[in-house]
Amino acid sequence: MALGNWIKIVFLSVFLCCFGSVVFGTTDAGDYAVLDEFRKGLANPELLKWPTNNRDPCGPPLWPHVFCSGSRVAQIQVQNLGLSGPLPRDFNKLSMLTNIGLQRNNFSGKLPSFSGLSNLQYAYLGNNQFDAIPSDFFVGLTSLQVLSLDMNPLNQSTGWVLPPDLADSAQLMNLSLVGCNLAGPLPEFLGTMHSLSVLKLSYNNLTGTIPASYSGLPLQILWLNNQIGPKLTGSLDVIASMTMLKDVWLHGNQLTGPIPSSIWGLTSLTRLWLNNNLLVGLVPQNLTSLLQLQSLQLDNNMFMGPIPKVSFNFTYAYNSFCQSTPGIPCSPEVTALLEFLERVNYPSKLAASWSGNDPCASLWSGVSCFDGKVSVINLPNLQLNGTISPSLGKLNDLVDVRLGGNNLDGMIPVNMTNLKLLKTLDLSSNNISPPVPHFPSSVKVLLDGNKLLVTASSPESSSTGNSPSDSSPNNTQSHNSPRSSGSSSPDANSGNRSRGSRKLNLLIVIVPIAFGVSIFLLAVLFLCFWKRRKSAFPAPSSIVVHPRDSSNPDNLVKIVVANNASNSIATNEWQSINSSHTSDTHLIESGNLVISVQVLRSATRNFASENVLGKGGFGVVYKGELHDGTMIAVKRMESAVLSSKALDEFHAEIAVLSKVRHRNLVSILGYSIEEYERLLVYEYMPQGALSKHLFRWKQLESEPLSWKKRMNIALDVARGMEYLHNLAHQCFIHRDLKSSNILLGDDYRAKVSDFGLAKLAPDGKNSVATRLAGTFGYLAPEYAVTGKVTKKIDVFSFGVVLMELLTGLMALDENRPEESRYLVSWFCQMKTTKENLKSIIDPALVVTDENFDSISIIAELAGHCAAREPQQRPDMGHAVNVLAQLAEKWRPMSDDQDEYLGIDLQQPLLQMVKGWQAADGTTDVSSVSLDDSKGSIPARPAGFAESFTSSDGR
Ligand SMILES: *[C@@H]1O[C@H](CO)[C@@H](O)[C@H](O)[C@H]1NC(C)=O
Ligand SMILES: *[C@@H]1O[C@H](CO)[C@@H](O)[C@H](O)[C@H]1NC(C)=O
Ligand SMILES: *[C@@H]1O[C@H](CO)[C@@H](O)[C@H](O)[C@H]1NC(C)=O
Ligand SMILES: *[C@@H]1O[C@H](CO)[C@@H](O)[C@H](O)[C@H]1NC(C)=O
Ligand SMILES: *[C@@H]1O[C@H](CO)[C@@H](O)[C@H](O)[C@H]1NC(C)=O
Repeated sequence: MALGNWIKIVFLSVFLCCFGSVVFGTTDAGDYAVLDEFRKGLANPELLKWPTNNRDPCGPPLWPHVFCSGSRVAQIQVQNLGLSGPLPRDFNKLSMLTNIGLQRNNFSGKLPSFSGLSNLQYAYLGNNQFDAIPSDFFVGLTSLQVLSLDMNPLNQSTGWVLPPDLADSAQLMNLSLVGCNLAGPLPEFLGTMHSLSVLKLSYNNLTGTIPASYSGLPLQILWLNNQIGPKLTGSLDVIASMTMLKDVWLHGNQLTGPIPSSIWGLTSLTRLWLNNNLLVGLVPQNLTSLLQLQSLQLDNNMFMGPIPKVSFNFTYAYNSFCQSTPGIPCSPEVTALLEFLERVNYPSKLAASWSGNDPCASLWSGVSCFDGKVSVINLPNLQLNGTISPSLGKLNDLVDVRLGGNNLDGMIPVNMTNLKLLKTLDLSSNNISPPVPHFPSSVKVLLDGNKLLVTASSPESSSTGNSPSDSSPNNTQSHNSPRSSGSSSPDANSGNRSRGSRKLNLLIVIVPIAFGVSIFLLAVLFLCFWKRRKSAFPAPSSIVVHPRDSSNPDNLVKIVVANNASNSIATNEWQSINSSHTSDTHLIESGNLVISVQVLRSATRNFASENVLGKGGFGVVYKGELHDGTMIAVKRMESAVLSSKALDEFHAEIAVLSKVRHRNLVSILGYSIEEYERLLVYEYMPQGALSKHLFRWKQLESEPLSWKKRMNIALDVARGMEYLHNLAHQCFIHRDLKSSNILLGDDYRAKVSDFGLAKLAPDGKNSVATRLAGTFGYLAPEYAVTGKVTKKIDVFSFGVVLMELLTGLMALDENRPEESRYLVSWFCQMKTTKENLKSIIDPALVVTDENFDSISIIAELAGHCAAREPQQRPDMGHAVNVLAQLAEKWRPMSDDQDEYLGIDLQQPLLQMVKGWQAADGTTDVSSVSLDDSKGSIPARPAGFAESFTSSDGR
């Protein structure tokens, strides 16, 4: 299939070349004019060696440094020639330009606009003297993959801000804007650019925090070091979510907080430079998970505790470490005090002064000693946030602990009752929770001004399942029952335990019901097969309920019958959800996914009808907003249909969603089970269902989706489905893929949703026989007839979705004439000739020669996916490959790809490192060459480029 396409493309390009031979050999007059103006503007045009007597840059023979595609200029490669002068104003008339290399010259003046260079893929403009950039520079650069503007004095007096137009360059992989006067906060929209793998923004005047929108970006290289001016602030938390990172330069900023422990899960990390920031806290000792790490710089922060021991040399001077040699632990007292500090989030005042290995010899603020032992901790009114560490219980000589007037919450560690010398524990005016452990009567415990301790049976205390009813509301001294002193430390969450047992009760109820249901179903299933043997062709309509209101695809009736297998998933997952501690969002209470109905009621304004987003098989989906502004979508099972199958669907969905996490699958944020309420909470997808944008854009007075967006959506869906099918050792089958289950974000990237019918294919079996589930119009024939579930039924549905993307027609529409009512059969009939195919393409799409190639490739793919025989359908992986080549215009890099990504630690990078080191602390980095494209792309012979671009030979 892929081979077939290549043959087709090569054939097409040969055809077009021959056809265009009338004009071949004559350069497009407009392109010549731009080149001529370019030459005339230069102070030293002779360096180009362009002939003056020949007006035909595209030759033959070609002018030096110019490559053409037919009569149009496709590349200009003049790097490192010493050229000086401006670029022509109308540079963007070179509309077929794909690749431009101007780096390392002395070009100057204002950059011309690149607006509308929609074929441009590679733009190397770094290391010149361009001193201004027009505001429309980035408009419409829809093919851009690599852009470097490094080391240009752009808008020097005012700085400049990256325009959001760049977000249209959805395929951008490499963005390098080092030292070019970017100002203001890091652009939020870069977080939507999911192809970005290299982001270099060092030596600008960027400020503020690393935006949360960058979370999960597939970056491999991230350089944000050495901002001038106020510098970057905030924590490293977002970085820890970028799991592909190899090379991280954040040095020379004002970053704060500890290194998040999850950063040690970035297993590809080879280089991590954090020096010259305001980072605090313990550095994890255990770096063994970072097998690739070769370079680490920690110096000039406020790191504390022991210096980590690693196998290579690294920098760590000028911190608050307790020892001066790596690998040596701190004294027990220091360890305990640092644990205390960790629980109050390392306030910078203390982090700066608690340094070294002797809290008594040096001046640790708030710590006093007697006879060489820590006896007083005196930290009142410091706005300390967090909890009290049980490690204080190890400081055996403590006499006086004064922590009044802070924001401490949680319980008082039981360990502190072991302190033999303790006389005073002042925790007044905090937010301490009960139970208060039993202290000997010799200890004066001050607890006034803790609102949770005011009434004896506050809600918290009753929900913990302990029995602290006698915790004294009266301030100075509390005499608790001995029982509570046997309770766990604040860490052990006793709330979890009771929630666990509630679920266990639920299971006890569900399992027998499910078992009963499945026996019943087996019987039904058997009957069906038996019946089917008699009538070889059962009318599908006897099994499938048709939609009545076909104008609203969200209203299609779904049929699902669960069997034994799906129940067992549900219950297994049920338990694992219960024990899993996904730390995903603030929504997740006590480390799991349970959310209270109360919160969801207020988020949806008591399930107000104006918040309804849609109606699904078993429930209504509402839009909601949490008090912090986070938007959510809440699916509420209708209590009228709280049948066992609705419950199964509910459980199956939680089971699948809590197991699968992928950027092209809608993720679950939580769920809620209380009495008759069954609620699922998802991330909110602002643009809603794909079906809306395909079929109802006119009614909704919106824009139709462009072809590019449709291709991206197809690719996103394919990726999500591929992941679902091949997740780890398990295979989930969606069974209800359709355009109303594909949701779009504000960036029009797609996520697959609605896993209510998903099921796990059992190990070692390729198919499961089951009763029908899904939506008519998307159902694979063998599934409709035999109920056999394989991955290929999803592939079929995916094919139908592709057809919908191509035609803008619904999978099934009773209002259409007989022959076109069922999209699949009509499409397969029509796509056989080019003319017919053209006639059924969505009229909202502008069909050009360029995009018709990709349209026909996708039409071909759709046909294969929806092939009648399951074994003729490809895997989702194949669909991903085909679509990725179209949507991302991937092309192989030659062997120095590594170098191009800047990862190679050999020659050029080491030079660069030295350059940076030399330049550290200054802004003079002119000795460093950053956009070292080494010509692998630019130097590609023109003929090679031509054979890959089929559509520009006219
Ligand atoms: C950096 O930007 C700030 C505003 O955020 C400005 O006040 C300052 O002058 C700029 N610094 C430099 C060196 O351009
Ligand atoms: C490092 O820590 C991980 C978990 O934190 C543990 O599984 C592993 O054994 C530790 N390795 C060493 C060498 O201590
Ligand atoms: C570390 O640095 C020391 C002194 O600079 C040097 O002798 C040693 O070979 C280095 N070790 C490694 C592993 O690079
Ligand atoms: C504690 O949190 C409050 C509110 O978020 C903040 O203003 C305060 O600075 C924090 N205290 C410390 C010591 O970081
Ligand atoms: C509490 O104290 C005991 C001994 O007093 C110690 O063994 C235990 O590790 C402490 N727990 C914590 C969490 O520090």
